[in-house]
Amino acid sequence: MERHSGSCAQLNLPCAAAVTAERLLAGELPGRWAHTRGVAHRAEQIARLLPPEDGRTLVAAAWLHDIGYASGLAETGFHQLDGAHYLARRGWPERICALVAHHAGATAVARLIGLAGELGAFEDEAGRVRDALWYCDMTTGPDGEPMSFEDRIAELRARRAPDDPVVRALAANGSERAAAVRRTETFLRDGGQRSR
Ligand SMILES: [Fe+2]
Repeated sequence: MERHSGSCAQLNLPCAAAVTAERLLAGELPGRWAHTRGVAHRAEQIARLLPPEDGRTLVAAAWLHDIGYASGLAETGFHQLDGAHYLARRGWPERICALVAHHAGATAVARLIGLAGELGAFEDEAGRVRDALWYCDMTTGPDGEPMSFEDRIAELRARRAPDDPVVRALAANGSERAAAVRRTETFLRDGGQRSR
């Protein structure tokens, strides 16, 4: 993938998303930016197997999924929601805002921290694109390296305190995350045959 340093020859959705993510993450959170690049790279591979509109949406959401960690976006401290609010305010497509809002089993975390109502303003489309976004995130390590789902869950537990809502939410969303990964693996094994 070429660098997206603020000027895309054609400012399409994935490219605009890459520029936005780089601006928000690269300087302040280089690790998160490396992870984001890894997730987007994986999404680009899957996008080739999807209808074009779904593919562009997946790649754009992959670039944007963690922008809510940028300190300038912090409102609630819940990165999925902060990222989605930022995008919605700037007129990004509702579908992308919602994919960012719900990625990585956000609903279970939102229930634990009292933000389920606010998150509910965004709809979880719960389809192939959403599954693929979760898959890309859950098979990319914190520094952008490819990682199995099992290792990713283990590193997530190791990196966070046991009482961290993200860790506590695994009791509720661990199986949901695993199912999204499994469905995407099946889709990839079939070479996306049934998607078009
Ligand atoms: Fe992520």
